[in-house]
Amino acid sequence: MSEHWPTADNAFLTVTDLRAGYGAAKVLHGVSFSVEQGTVCAILGPNGAGKTTLLRALCGMIKVRGSLVLDGDEVSGRAPESMARLGVAHVPEGRGTFAPLTVEENLRLGAYPRRDRAAVDTDLRRVYDYFPILRDKQRDAAGGMSGGQQQMLAIGRALMLRPRLLLLDEPSLGLSPLVTQELFGIVATINQEERTTVIVVEQNAHLALGIAQQAHVLETGRIVLSGTAAQIRADEQVTRSYLGIQVKP
Ligand SMILES: Nc1ncnc2c1ncn2[C@@H]1O[C@H](COP(=O)(O)OP(=O)(O)OP(=O)(O)O)[C@@H](O)[C@H]1O
Ligand SMILES: [Mg+2]
Repeated sequence: MSEHWPTADNAFLTVTDLRAGYGAAKVLHGVSFSVEQGTVCAILGPNGAGKTTLLRALCGMIKVRGSLVLDGDEVSGRAPESMARLGVAHVPEGRGTFAPLTVEENLRLGAYPRRDRAAVDTDLRRVYDYFPILRDKQRDAAGGMSGGQQQMLAIGRALMLRPRLLLLDEPSLGLSPLVTQELFGIVATINQEERTTVIVVEQNAHLALGIAQQAHVLETGRIVLSGTAAQIRADEQVTRSYLGIQVKP
């Protein structure tokens, strides 16, 4: 019998009954959703809901049960390197840039899993066009930059993979409102210009809903609310009282 999971039209990623955790600690208890090609999907939810775990599961960092279909292919069980080659770029919580390396060295590392090495210089220019501050600081050590600049570097490094799916974990963490706004603006531009599908995990629901088309609210490892960004926003009563999420400024 061939396995068949229902796939939404145009879905780039279809997650079905995803279960994952850390050893005996089960965190995701059957998560299902799909993301359309070229859209931004926001994952919202309180602390400890499993948002980071979900992104780790999607990029192959932790073992999963259930199905992950990426662009028509079942990819659950693949290693992170293999997911990277398929174009899944993960910008983890805390950014994960290499402090002693220069900005440019960090960016070049992002292209490491790719096979088309020749295009790397072109992509470096493209990243510098999105983030001009990185061009200015290309020879500087990453560790000496501000939090906002390091987050830009982390996203820039992910872009060096030419991702088809960009996973962003709390990009606003520790950044000023102004820098956060700028960062989200650039993510929206990247999504529109490159048609990169984006899944963004955010505590700041208002910001995330500002660039997302679809959103899912995760609570204790389950999706408890799904809809368009407008629907989730309109459900303020529920999101605020039930989950303590602020969807409006
Ligand atoms: N490496 C780990 N080993 C064991 N348990 C973990 C590990 N990482 C996370 N957990 C647990 O898994 C649950 C979900 O954590 P996760 O980091 O995915 O939540 P989150 O929604 O990203 O939270 P936050 O908003 O605080 O970032 C929590 O109970 C957490 O303690
Ligand atoms: Mg987290």
